[in-house]
Amino acid sequence: MTKPNNPRQILVTSALPYANGPIHLGHLVEYIQTDIWVRWQKMQGHQCHYVCADDAHGTPIMLRAQQQGISPETLIAQVSQQHQRDFAGFAIGFDNYYSTHSLENQTLANHIYQQLKQQGYIEKRTIAQAFDPKENMFLPDRFIKGECPRCGAKDQYGDNCEACGATYDPTELKNPVSVVSGTTPIEKQSEHFFINLADFEPMLRQWVNSDAIQAEVKNKLAEWFESGLKAWDISRDAPYFGFEIPDEKDKYFYVWLDAPIGYMASFKNLCQRQGFDFNAFWAKENENNTELYHFIGKDIVYFHTLFWPAMLAGSGFRQPTGVFVHGFLTVNGQKMSKSRGTFIKAEDYLCHLNPEYLRYYFAAKLSHGIDDIDLNLEDFVQRVNADLIGKVVNIASRCAGFINKRFAGQLSAALDDADLYQEFLTQAQAIAQDYEQRNYSHAVRKIMALADKANQYIDDKKPWVMAKQAGQDALLQAVCSQGINLFQVLISCLNPILPLMGEKVARFLNTPLVWSPPPLLAHPINPFEPLMTRVEQKQIDALLACHSIEPAQPAPKPLEPIAAPVQYAQFSQIDLRVAKIIDAQVVDGADKLLKLQLDIGEAQPRQVFAGIKAAYPKPEKLIGQMTVMVANLAPRQMSFGLSEGMVLAAGAGKELWLLHPAEGAQVGMRIN
Ligand code: MSP
Ligand code: ZN
Repeated sequence: MTKPNNPRQILVTSALPYANGPIHLGHLVEYIQTDIWVRWQKMQGHQCHYVCADDAHGTPIMLRAQQQGISPETLIAQVSQQHQRDFAGFAIGFDNYYSTHSLENQTLANHIYQQLKQQGYIEKRTIAQAFDPKENMFLPDRFIKGECPRCGAKDQYGDNCEACGATYDPTELKNPVSVVSGTTPIEKQSEHFFINLADFEPMLRQWVNSDAIQAEVKNKLAEWFESGLKAWDISRDAPYFGFEIPDEKDKYFYVWLDAPIGYMASFKNLCQRQGFDFNAFWAKENENNTELYHFIGKDIVYFHTLFWPAMLAGSGFRQPTGVFVHGFLTVNGQKMSKSRGTFIKAEDYLCHLNPEYLRYYFAAKLSHGIDDIDLNLEDFVQRVNADLIGKVVNIASRCAGFINKRFAGQLSAALDDADLYQEFLTQAQAIAQDYEQRNYSHAVRKIMALADKANQYIDDKKPWVMAKQAGQDALLQAVCSQGINLFQVLISCLNPILPLMGEKVARFLNTPLVWSPPPLLAHPINPFEPLMTRVEQKQIDALLACHSIEPAQPAPKPLEPIAAPVQYAQFSQIDLRVAKIIDAQVVDGADKLLKLQLDIGEAQPRQVFAGIKAAYPKPEKLIGQMTVMVANLAPRQMSFGLSEGMVLAAGAGKELWLLHPAEGAQVGMRIN
């Protein structure tokens, strides 16, 4: 690595993924984008630290742990393992990966809060909020469902309507229910702590107009300033998984207060282990001109360009040098959505495909803007094969064999075309600019144009013809050495994007990869190992068929209200019997019904039409199973035949489970 005269000191972060779900390809846009930039900076010899962490706090994580019957600490430890495994699989080279549920973070969060409080930036106010009287907890907007106050659509979340797009306050929902318990929430008062964002408006306006922010983001911010900065609620009531607010009872920091502080905490933890200077990167004075950059998605701009700078300013820390916002990933033109099951988990991708295909594809699509980027799977296959295999790897494989076999791995002492090599190095400078500006798609375009040039050079020289002619050895060696040297420049340019391939190439070339490398002359190289294989459509098919592209966990269903009480005498009038299914068939012309024959110990089996086909599309599988039947339900004449009773099942539609008695129960036994 060449040391620049004035190495920069740079601290880089990616947003902290929530600890309640797996890493998916949408996340990876960000981590790959950041990792490329960090690797590029490191390649320039700058001191660049890349830190991240799991975002471990908040109600969803608390409830998910409850659902799984484990402690939140256990849950976040498990998820952290999975996240780190997935990131490593995509060669994301964090210098530290930590958790917001850490002592460093708690100490820093308390400190920042106390500073803000001392400076008079914290206000207390009593507000009314939705409260679940059964679970004894206040409900975040996303945990209340009901009818949209504007259009009446059912089953809408407490903050906005997916049917008509209205945004509203959860108290405005009609017929609201708690997603946690199914009960009707009540309104309850509680004291909350607010940071008055308007106090920071002059400072924020100034910061926002600096170079720290992309033009598109500035426009968005102008709108927010226009509509007025509102006070920000930073407290939550118990029960909550997070940090308790110092000197208060049963009050916790809202997850978004301590989440960005997690950037600092992760870095602090790194400093403690490696002896770096924490203050050099965070102190207001910034005497060493250190740089601080946050990479984030466009959905969390408000937090990073308003709340976070205000918190830093109000507690005596420096401002970020830049907040780099990227767009969202779509797959085949469709928005990734958990409920539609169109998100691909990092883990599943890695079962089927090389991580560097995706790193390359994203790089080829990423610009410094905030436009969404689309993963079109057909284009993906075509592009990876045409560019990486067809163009780049091809250069080396066309030249390496001759050098290894005919010249014992020794490159020539001089280049065949030194001007062409120089042209590549000149172009590398333009590519450097593209990396610095995060215009990776431009960098990739330039690199591929160089690859075309290198292939053209080989096509023109035709080493395979020289190899068959007498007296052409020196030229053959020079031409192939030229090809390999051009390849060296290309791979060094691709190294931030393809670090794993870069390592293989460094072994093959028998030299570390550096930016703008001097030519390798009279230099021994190693035998060529295959660098990358083609993507096959069948790998994509396998990924898409992969069973674990399951729809994400459905939100817990609200409990249906319990029906009005009945007396035992009334209940005992219902005669429930153990029944054996002795035949089960689909019914022509009926979408939902199965025709069952049930043995309950009578001379003739009972015929029952049951609306369970969606859950049991292969009725023959039911034959032989025991179940529970209402034996004295009045028979009903249906168009398909007489139904002489009914079977019992939990749920409805596709999500339906037939009841089975425990083993040992005999056909015809009465159920009391
Ligand atoms: N925990 C917060 C961030 C706290 S930072 C102090 C969060 N977590 S997240 O897991 O939902 O998202 C992490 C990052 O991934 C965010 O920057 C988010 O924008 C990004 N992405 C999540 N889904 C994405 C896509 N489908 N496409 C592109 N980026 C996406 O937000
Ligand atoms: Zn609506």
